Amino acid sequence: MVKSRAFELHQGGIGFESLGDEGLPIEKGSDKFSRKRGLTLVQISDFHVGSVHFVSNLMNRTIMEVNAMSPDLVIATGDLTNEGFKQEYNAVQAYMDQIDCDQKLVIPGNHDSRNVGYVHFEERFGERHSLVSFPGVTVVGIDSSEPDLDRGRVGRSRYKWILEKFEDRAQDFKVVALHHHLLPVPGTGRERNIIDDAGDMLAVLIDNGINLVLNGHKHVPHVWSIEGMYVVTAGTASSLRLRGYNQPCYNIIKLEDETCRIYRKVPFGKQEIIAEFSSRPRTRLGSVGFTEPGRMAT
Ligand SMILES: [Fe+2]
Ligand SMILES: [Fe+2]
Repeated sequence: MVKSRAFELHQGGIGFESLGDEGLPIEKGSDKFSRKRGLTLVQISDFHVGSVHFVSNLMNRTIMEVNAMSPDLVIATGDLTNEGFKQEYNAVQAYMDQIDCDQKLVIPGNHDSRNVGYVHFEERFGERHSLVSFPGVTVVGIDSSEPDLDRGRVGRSRYKWILEKFEDRAQDFKVVALHHHLLPVPGTGRERNIIDDAGDMLAVLIDNGINLVLNGHKHVPHVWSIEGMYVVTAGTASSLRLRGYNQPCYNIIKLEDETCRIYRKVPFGKQEIIAEFSSRPRTRLGSVGFTEPGRMAT
């Protein structure tokens, strides 16, 4: 019996491979495509290009390390610039162009939306809300920034938009990326700037089977698990805007078989696993699909 399973074509396309009785790929005699049994996603965040605390050596090292992994997707979760200035965006674009990856999902942070910086963002990186998908994996990026405000919000009007992106993808590993944090992060002092609608947003994501949330903003890496959904905060990859003894770092997300493993990597330094969980679709008793928080399902 021959089974069929989705796979990625290394040249950028999407297709299907055939599996033999043992579940192993059947060689088709072509070297054109490099089959991958899993996906590698990299989350880099909070570069703060233009800040006096930005360290180009850390940025260059991070890019070198990321390129060595040949990731399938690089997710940049905001605060790429420090003030949203055009010249800072020029530098960010030059760095992003050095990342050797076909798929990049870039979202703005509060610093990027300062000084009307979102116009430069859109010119270089396109829509501030975006989607990247692979067979079995969907990643949606959301702009949680508000011009000239440090705090963030997603907003009720966007909940349906987000969930529409996951329609017909019930069996996928579902990832949502945004800049601001959804849950308080330990070791960051007084809590502030969590998104204004964190409670409603958490309910929407949990009730609709999101597997993983990626955010930045606090420059302190952390992992929470709530109702089986993982919420991962990245550190700053390339700046010394640090709290306490935290180090610059970024996240590597590996999806293999039915497991998601997340690693924290320090540029020039160590790599350690910080989470391991099933990548199977999440279900929750009582889940009824989209229901606006505060309203009963009908
Ligand atoms: Fe930041
Ligand atoms: Fe931020």
